[in-house]
Amino acid sequence: MASLDIPSASTAQLDALKELKSSFTLTTDRLHRIVEGFVHSMNEGLEKDGKNLAMIPSYVKTRPTGDEKGTYLALDLGGTNLRVCEVSLKGDSQFDIVQQKFTIPQAIKHSNARTFFDWIADCVSVFLTDHDKEPSPTGLDIPLGFTFSFAVAQSSINRGTLIMWNKGFTVEGVVGRDVVLLLQDALKRKHLRVSVAALVNDTVGALMTSAYQHPSSLMGVIFGTGTNAAYFEKAGRIPKWIQSADGARDAADVDEMVINMEWGGFDNDKDVLPLTFFDNGVDRETQNPGKQIFEKMISGLYLGEVTRKVLLHLVDRRLLFNGRSSTELNQPYSFDTAYMSTIVADETPDLADTQYTLESVLLLPPTTPADRAMVKAVCYMLGLRAARLSAAALASVLTVRKDVLSASKTTIGIDGSMYEFYPSFERFLMEAMAEILGEKLAQNIHTTLSKDGSGVGAAIVAMVADKQREMFGHN
Ligand code: GLC
Repeated sequence: MASLDIPSASTAQLDALKELKSSFTLTTDRLHRIVEGFVHSMNEGLEKDGKNLAMIPSYVKTRPTGDEKGTYLALDLGGTNLRVCEVSLKGDSQFDIVQQKFTIPQAIKHSNARTFFDWIADCVSVFLTDHDKEPSPTGLDIPLGFTFSFAVAQSSINRGTLIMWNKGFTVEGVVGRDVVLLLQDALKRKHLRVSVAALVNDTVGALMTSAYQHPSSLMGVIFGTGTNAAYFEKAGRIPKWIQSADGARDAADVDEMVINMEWGGFDNDKDVLPLTFFDNGVDRETQNPGKQIFEKMISGLYLGEVTRKVLLHLVDRRLLFNGRSSTELNQPYSFDTAYMSTIVADETPDLADTQYTLESVLLLPPTTPADRAMVKAVCYMLGLRAARLSAAALASVLTVRKDVLSASKTTIGIDGSMYEFYPSFERFLMEAMAEILGEKLAQNIHTTLSKDGSGVGAAIVAMVADKQREMFGHN
C-alpha cells in the first residue's frame, strides 16, 4: 500500500501529493452521483441511438446452457493483438482452446480497409496451415466467430457496421461499413473456406464464456486496453429494439437480450466525472478528443499517460527528480500502464523495482527514496480512482438489474490486464460496490476471471446463432 507518509519528503513535496490526492479521491457521495448519472445515461441509450452510452443490442437472445458442443474458429481483434483460435466446446461447461497470437503492427492500425482485412485473413491462413486445419474438399466451410472489440451497430448476430475507431486505430474506409462482409471478402480473396457466423464484442464474449461456466452470470466486463461491459437486459426495457423490425417480430418470444453498453463513452459531455487538468490534457491529445471520456480515466491505454502527465507536472514544479526529466519520459505514452502495476506492487525496502523502472527503463537521472515513494503514491491514487470509477459503472448495471442481484448470487465475468495485474484492483472494486449498494446486496456479487473470454465467447455465440436460427427462423 502506498502511503503519503514519506519521511524523507520535503513539506513542499508532501503538500503537492496531498493536493493531488484530493483531486483524485472519489468519496462515496461522489460515487452515488456518478451512479445516478450512469443509470440515466443507460436509459437514454436504451431508448435512442446516438447517445453517450450506445447500449447496442447484440442480437444474442438466449443464454448458453453449458451443454453446447462443437468446434469453431474464433478471431479476436482487440487492442494490441490479434488472436486466432480453435475452440472446442465440450459440453459440461468445459472447453479446449488452441490459439496463436499475432501482434498488430502499427502500420496496419493506420492502414486502409483492404490492407487491414487482408492482414487478418493472412493470419487466419497461417493458423490453418500451422495447425493443419483445412476443411475436407466436400465438407462445409469452417464456421468462425469474429470478436471485434469496437463500437459496432449490429443489425443481426453476424452483421454490423463500425461506428468509430478508438484505442489507437484509424484504419481508413471501415467506419460505416459492415465488418463481417469486409472480413468475409478478404477470406475469399485468400481462398479460405471459412464462413463468418457471428460478430461479437469482447464484452459479449466475456459474458458468454462466464455464462457457459456459471449460469448466474449477468455481466461481462473488460478492463484492458479499453473498458466496456455487456449484460443481460430485459427485452421489454429496450424500446429502440422493440421498435425495430427485428424487435417487432421477436419481442414476444424474447425474455432477455445481451446489450453491449460501450460504457467508455459515458459522460462525453464532462458533466458528472471529476476530470482533472491531467485528464483533459490526455483527452485533448488523443485521436478522438471529447470521446471515450470514461475509458480514458480507467483503461490501460490511457492510465499510464495520465500518470506521466502528473509526474511531469511535479518535475516542472521541481518537486520530483530534482526538476529533471529524460528524453524517454518526455515521450507521450512512454509510461506504460504495466509500470504502474509493478510500482504499486513494489514492497522492497528502498523501492528497488521502482528505481529500476525509473532509472533503467525511463533513463531518469539517479532518483531519491522520496522520489520513488512519490511516484508510487501517484500510481496508487490513479489505480484506486480507476477501480472506484469502474465500481460505479458496475453498480449502475446492478442497480438497473436489482431484480437479479437481490434475488440470488450474481456473477460478473471480467477480463483484461488492469483487472488481472493491477494490485488490489478486485478488492477496490468490491469495497466501492459495497459502499454504493450496501454490504448486504454486495454479498451477492461474485466476480470471476473470464480468461480467454473473447475467443471462447465468439465460438459460443456462433453456436447460439445456430440455435437462434432454429428458434426464430432467422438470424
Ligand atoms: C473500446 C471499444 C469496445 C470494447 C472495449 C474493450 O471501448 O469501443 O467495443 O469492448 O474497448 O476492449
